[in-house]
Amino acid sequence: MNRFWSKTASNINPYVPGEQPHDKKYIKLNTNENPYPPSPKVFEAIRRETSADVRLYPDPDAVGLKNAIARFYEVDCDEVFVGNGSDEVLAFCFPTFFNPGDTVSFPDITYSFFPVYSRLFGVKYKTVRLTDDFFIPFDDFTSSARGILVPNPNAPTGLAVGTDMIERLLRRFPDTLVIVDEAYVDFGACSSVPLIKKYDNLLVVQTFSKSRSLAGLRVGYAIGNNGLIEALERVKNSFNSYTIDRIAQKAAEAAIDDKEYFYKTLKRVVNTREYTAQKLNGLGFTVIPSKSNFLFVSHKDIKAEEIFIKLRQEGILVRHFKMLRIENWLRITIGTDDDMAALIEKLKAMMI
Ligand SMILES: Cc1ncc(COP(=O)(O)O)c(C=O)c1O
Repeated sequence: MNRFWSKTASNINPYVPGEQPHDKKYIKLNTNENPYPPSPKVFEAIRRETSADVRLYPDPDAVGLKNAIARFYEVDCDEVFVGNGSDEVLAFCFPTFFNPGDTVSFPDITYSFFPVYSRLFGVKYKTVRLTDDFFIPFDDFTSSARGILVPNPNAPTGLAVGTDMIERLLRRFPDTLVIVDEAYVDFGACSSVPLIKKYDNLLVVQTFSKSRSLAGLRVGYAIGNNGLIEALERVKNSFNSYTIDRIAQKAAEAAIDDKEYFYKTLKRVVNTREYTAQKLNGLGFTVIPSKSNFLFVSHKDIKAEEIFIKLRQEGILVRHFKMLRIENWLRITIGTDDDMAALIEKLKAMMI
């Protein structure tokens, strides 16, 4: 800290992303990236867009990309907002929908960016405590919150709920904005997007980073009633007109249009997840039933931190959160079959 820092810069507690190491090549199972490359059509789009036209600004409204997302979800173009990763979309939600001093509510164990954004934008937050088996106690949300944030599936647990639970929340609190973060929904959960036609208090946030293998290009989006989207556009256009570059817009458009590749890749990840869960069970791990591209696991005899450190030494990165209630758990991203076989081998060796 020095004398030029604002109160905001001094008081915030920044989010710590999973490690992107430089020291050597690891099997990276720590940041929920997709182990498979994006659709070949993405590379064609990138090649086409890589021209002298990069001297021109991108389309500030990203109309081509919004139309492609709208086609995929059968919604209208003005019901779609796009941003530089869903992190940015979530960040924009705070000044767009919540006033400083308002209260938002989210689970105590969830995406750790939620409390960070709350503090950054001067929004108070109240957490609801997950049950001991990590379920979100939906009945514990109260009407005092101006906004409710729920990832579905939740992170880092991977547990999902049916859209009936989300719909009950929307009905119970018609004057509270419910933001459903569906970063991992494609890996087996049910999307709440169809509910946006019925509920003007629902905003669904999704990303190209996980199921469409584009984490490195940073594209996320929100789908909701056009009144909500208009407000997001107002804030975005007061901050940065060009949040998504020309190449990322075209690449994401190609990715969402290639449905065949999308479903094929999802199936591979889901099959590997189920196989890995079974193997981990066999090694004495408790494995939370996951609808995402990661597994949340705990071992009956060996401490999570010890496993994390040993795996790192062996060239495998997983995620360990030094947080109350989950300090003995690890989040393991689903890699290729070979990645997971290597993981199982290293774990087996540890158990001897
Ligand atoms: C629950 C959840 N939401 C949102 C994100 C952000 O994804 P991105 O900014 O890459 O779209 C992540 C990333 O890991 C996540 O775990």
